[in-house]
Amino acid sequence: MRFAMSIVPFEVRNLTFPLSPARARFWVGGRKAVTAFWDMLSIFFPEGERFFIESVNAHRQHVTDPALQQAVQKFCGQEGVHRREHARYNETLAAFGYPVEEMERRVSRVLNVVRFLLPKRLQLAVTVSLEHFTALLGELVLTSRTGLAGADPEVAKLWRWHSLEENEHKAVAFDVYRAAGGGYVERCVIMLLTSLIFWGKVVEQQARMMWADGTLFRLSEHADLFRYLFRNNDGGMQRLLPKYLSFFRRDFHPFAPGDTEQLEQWRAQLADLDSMAASSPANVSTT
Ligand SMILES: [Fe+2]
Ligand SMILES: [Fe+2]
Repeated sequence: MRFAMSIVPFEVRNLTFPLSPARARFWVGGRKAVTAFWDMLSIFFPEGERFFIESVNAHRQHVTDPALQQAVQKFCGQEGVHRREHARYNETLAAFGYPVEEMERRVSRVLNVVRFLLPKRLQLAVTVSLEHFTALLGELVLTSRTGLAGADPEVAKLWRWHSLEENEHKAVAFDVYRAAGGGYVERCVIMLLTSLIFWGKVVEQQARMMWADGTLFRLSEHADLFRYLFRNNDGGMQRLLPKYLSFFRRDFHPFAPGDTEQLEQWRAQLADLDSMAASSPANVSTT
């Protein structure tokens, strides 16, 4: 059987984003709940990326296509750098007084339950589902005129870099999953469960951050976040709903027609990334 593969080549950029501890705590234009939204997403990544790398690596033996073998290696490289940089990011959040350690432990606990309950291929289906979300959230960052406007340029740079790379490698886990024999019904069921658990965790983490900020019971903050997510951003997050739902089509593939051209545009817009961020001499864990 022939599959559409993730034939879009991409590179591992071993970049580092030294976020200043003296930066503004509410780095998205002073908006507290909105800043908490991006910050709490960062808290998912060190443990989340470890899970992605692990579940893709566990199926390497099924990958016979040399282009996909190379893509798997680079996928692990990119996610490894994301892990490292978000761990640094999260250290700055801890310095602001957020319960980062506790929140990361809770993310880890959920993933450990997934590891315990699900066979390896279903764990990979969880990664495929979450990679669909990271690509969509990345698209939100990269296409929106207002999303990170007025944000601290250093932090925004990190999010733009991560968003670009999520879109570059968005098909890798999916292609490995299909090479490993993953099927339609299985991935749809896992996507439904993953959607419930992931967005449930998003709400919980948002609440924890806002509790730490003392804004959890401030209606104006919730209204501001609602406006940001569903009214701003070139039509709000809901414009991505059709793309989310396309996952449930039998012939779904993460690279839809026009995506490679879109990717080239984003790469051109972010061509200065390498000069903006320092190259890191640190090792990258890809296991
Ligand atoms: Fe990532
Ligand atoms: Fe990813």
